[in-house]
Amino acid sequence: MAIKKVGVLGCGLMGSGIAQVSAMAGYDVIVLEADQKFIDKGFAGIEKSLAKLAEKPVEKGGITAEQKDAARARLKGTLNNKDLADCDLIIEAIIENPEIKKKTFAELDAIVKKDAIFATNTSSICVTELAAATKRPDRFIGLHFFNPVPLMKLVEVVKTIATADSVMDEAYEFGKKVGKVPVRTSDKTGFIVNRLLVPYLLDAIRAYEEGAGSIPDIDNAMKLGCGYPMGPFTLLDFVGLDTTYYITHVMFDEFKERRFASPALLRRLVLAGWFGRKTGKGFYDYSDPANPRAMEF
Ligand code: 3HC
Repeated sequence: MAIKKVGVLGCGLMGSGIAQVSAMAGYDVIVLEADQKFIDKGFAGIEKSLAKLAEKPVEKGGITAEQKDAARARLKGTLNNKDLADCDLIIEAIIENPEIKKKTFAELDAIVKKDAIFATNTSSICVTELAAATKRPDRFIGLHFFNPVPLMKLVEVVKTIATADSVMDEAYEFGKKVGKVPVRTSDKTGFIVNRLLVPYLLDAIRAYEEGAGSIPDIDNAMKLGCGYPMGPFTLLDFVGLDTTYYITHVMFDEFKERRFASPALLRRLVLAGWFGRKTGKGFYDYSDPANPRAMEF
């Protein structure tokens, strides 16, 4: 089956990024949201990102003004799930709540054509559980993108015990078509990246709790000593402390290992409502966004 039209569920950070790279790759894209204000916000972000890319020379990963306009013209938003009926691929990027995701997929299963592929961008929820909420578990897969989607080159393609091999191949090719390097992985919580990344981030918090160094010193140590683009605390604030905290629960539940358990400080920050960049405070205070100030706890 040739994928021509892509439906994206959710127009937040991840959904809008996935919609953008799909439109840039030449697919017709329709984004489903619950409220027009989320579509407006997500599309404004896409506009900004496309404008940044259009400023860059093509040989350095930029796009031309024509490519920018063409991508924008392929994108539509809707509040009505029936508008996704003729999509060939649906990629879900809504809230990380299994019950809401299952309900959304079950409703779409009755509307969207039978041979369409369903994909979830979940970072930690069991893909098999979501697939079982539909009558097409063989055509259900994980497609896990990374933030910021237009810049990060990886997509994890996640096979469940029920996914057909042909669907895995189609999703893998789609990943390449949207400019990513796809890697194949299986439906074990955290897939490849979060299985390795989450214990590292949690260890950085534990190292701070145990007095190994200050927040900026630990960040600089890992950035300059290992060549990482961001230190662990900058990355935690970027990913979102609420998101990380949620992932720790799902991973701890699956593996029952201390390395996936939330440190006490992470829990306190989440309870205080300090989720990182998105709330203006986390391991850093972003009152002056150009000069984040490290917190001391
Ligand atoms: N769209 C288009 N262009 C963008 C952009 C966007 N959304 N965001 C930034 N840019 C551009 C900037 O304009 C800038 O362009 P220039 O070089 O022409 O000036 C360029 O990209 C670099 O941006 P910055 O100078 O602001 O910052 P950096 O050089 O630090 O790069 C970064 C930003 C790519 C985010 C880099 O810091 C990085 O790779 N960080 C690590 C991110 C990461 O690890 N993400 C994965 C998180 S884990 C995850 O998502 C999984 C989940 O399940 C938890």
